[in-house]
Amino acid sequence: MYTKKQMVEVEIIDLGDKNQSFGRLEDGISIFVQGPAAVGDVVKAEIFKIKKKYLVARYKGLVKPSPHRTDPICRYFGLCGGCKWQHMEYTEQLRLKRKQVQDALEHLGGFEGIECDDCIPAPSLFGYRNKMDFSFTDLRYLTPDEMDIAPGDHEKPLDFALGFHAPGCYSKAIDIDHCDLSTEEMNITLNTVRAFCLKHKEALPIYSTHSHTGELRNLMVRHGGNTGEFMVNLVTSTHNAELMGKLSATLQEALGDKLTTFVNNITSAKNTVAFGEKEFVLYGPGYITDRLGDYTYRISANSFFQTNSIQAEKLYIQILEAAQLKPTDIVYDLFCGTGSITLFASSHCKKVLGVELVESSVNDARENAKRHDIDNCEFIRLDLKDIKHIRKDMADFGAPDVVITDPPRAGMNPKAVQALREIAPPVIIYVSCNPASLARDGQMLCEEGLYKLVSCQPIDMFPQTNHVESVARFEKV
Ligand SMILES: C[S@@+](CC[C@H](N)C(=O)[O-])C[C@H]1O[C@@H](n2cnc3c(N)ncnc32)[C@H](O)[C@@H]1O
Repeated sequence: MYTKKQMVEVEIIDLGDKNQSFGRLEDGISIFVQGPAAVGDVVKAEIFKIKKKYLVARYKGLVKPSPHRTDPICRYFGLCGGCKWQHMEYTEQLRLKRKQVQDALEHLGGFEGIECDDCIPAPSLFGYRNKMDFSFTDLRYLTPDEMDIAPGDHEKPLDFALGFHAPGCYSKAIDIDHCDLSTEEMNITLNTVRAFCLKHKEALPIYSTHSHTGELRNLMVRHGGNTGEFMVNLVTSTHNAELMGKLSATLQEALGDKLTTFVNNITSAKNTVAFGEKEFVLYGPGYITDRLGDYTYRISANSFFQTNSIQAEKLYIQILEAAQLKPTDIVYDLFCGTGSITLFASSHCKKVLGVELVESSVNDARENAKRHDIDNCEFIRLDLKDIKHIRKDMADFGAPDVVITDPPRAGMNPKAVQALREIAPPVIIYVSCNPASLARDGQMLCEEGLYKLVSCQPIDMFPQTNHVESVARFEKV
């Protein structure tokens, strides 16, 4: 018999989703442990949920470390939800990423007899991100050490934070001054903007998700990993021309010629997404460029671009290898963002149709094709939930031989998967940053034996995190 608050010791044998690990107690009962454990650790855990077949407990300390453990370098490790795997050696991270994809395909997708390839490693384990989104909140998340300090005695204000949301806690953020996945410019910007906003707190109050009043929402920074260009984008509720002008000068002074553009995006949305409805360009051209392979891409503040430039190039090479395009092929690149895959594919086939929802991305994609004198790509702005349009545009462009689809984490809308089944291209390359979505959509594609999964290549775009990208090839049977 187990009781709530009971302490147990357990060896961790596997890791799960959402910062959970898994083990079995001596009597064979399964136990899920929430907290930063590694496979091979023996941990102390406190039970807080008792079910017939399993227990759920909170990690309370390490009894014996796993041989795969390493010391996390970040002082916010365990608090900030970003780098959940910093305590594990990189080879172990890669093993677990491959396993995550394999397990999802087998257990969620029901795929049998498919062996994923080894996960392609990343050369830079820190400082690799070319984009960061920091949030402002008027409620600072207190670390366990800060919990016992009396309200008046805190070094930093309690009603101001610029950093990352604590996991599952969207109204509060951890006020961070350094992130190891960021570049040096990003960390300088974070601290410069924080100091500026604190100085002008009266005129620039933080937006409250409760009262929906206030100004400061997000700070987004973007770095051309292969060009060095650097964008700062402050997202606010309204545009304060005088203060944004002052902030522009402050940023130029702090960053020197590293800063290439500063924009202020305005949003009236009530959610916390850093997406602007109107943009004011305060400095530079209002966009940056980045280079992947032979192509230079224009990237605006609201456009999607892969967040690890070095790995993005490797990812696109994998996509081309999986697609095996022929010069006569008509290709669709669904969820095309700024057209980065579209352009990579364009020199290997007859023509490519890029489909994307976000207007700035479609504009960037068209501009990117134009800059390289590429005339066999077309881009349309379309919500891929809208299947009627997919069919109409297909009729205009020609039926595809290969469809490349690279949806957001949630995967494709079931109607879009159904439309893809009806279009029935001979080859579908499914690029996914979420193994569960790949498994679910892949299973639907393969229903009634219409398609078969032929290969799956995981690739690590996000070292220190539990995220993994993969490229899967489906062939029509
Ligand atoms: C994972 S990104 C892929 C971008 C691109 N393939 C690349 O490698 O840079 C997903 C893209 O899908 C777009 N998107 C999200 N929902 C969409 C929808 N319903 N219809 C069309 N595009 C959508 C996003 O704006 C984003 O650009």
